[in-house]
Amino acid sequence: MRRAITPGTFDPITFGHLDVIKRASQLVDEVIVAVAASAGKKPLFTLEERAELAREATLDIPNVTVEPFEGLLVDFARSKNAQVLVKGLRAITDFEYEFQMAALNYELGREVETVFIMSPPQYMYLSSSIVRELASLHSSVDNFVPPHVAAALSKKFQ
Ligand code: COA
Repeated sequence: MRRAITPGTFDPITFGHLDVIKRASQLVDEVIVAVAASAGKKPLFTLEERAELAREATLDIPNVTVEPFEGLLVDFARSKNAQVLVKGLRAITDFEYEFQMAALNYELGREVETVFIMSPPQYMYLSSSIVRELASLHSSVDNFVPPHVAAALSKKFQ
């Protein structure tokens, strides 16, 4: 049984994240979307809200589940018997940061492998903070997030 984890803050989940999650779900038997507390980032949505938005967004993918987590990602991966961490790689600016995180995670837990999936061009420059900024300015985010996420954003910024 191959089990992968797609980790992130998901504040909120976007079509860019969903592209990575869907593609990962075709490579392994099971995917766990691990929603990090990321308290240092002072997220707009609570951990439970972010997990719930991700759950609804992935309902149509049968081998995907969503779980919130706190603490080290490699510890969470170990506790779930996951062998792979799958991350999206967008513009070249992601590379150095992701390289550093992959190297650190390798040091912390060698049994967990990090794999990258390249974002398609239309999501290359998409990020949750861009989506939050657009929503805060009451601009449409329909091209970037599923309808229930757009609704949750407009509620936050009404
Ligand atoms: N498409 C679109 N956007 C994407 C994306 C994709 N495929 N992949 C990432 N992003 C964006 C996110 O939207 C987010 O945007 P924002 O910063 O503008 O809001 C940004 O990239 C960063 O993503 P985030 O979800 O915050 O992930 P991260 O790469 O910063 O890592 C964890 C988050 C949870 C994986 C990491 O912090 C972690 O492992 N935390 C647990 C503690 C730990 O183990 N620390 C040691 C790690 S080495």
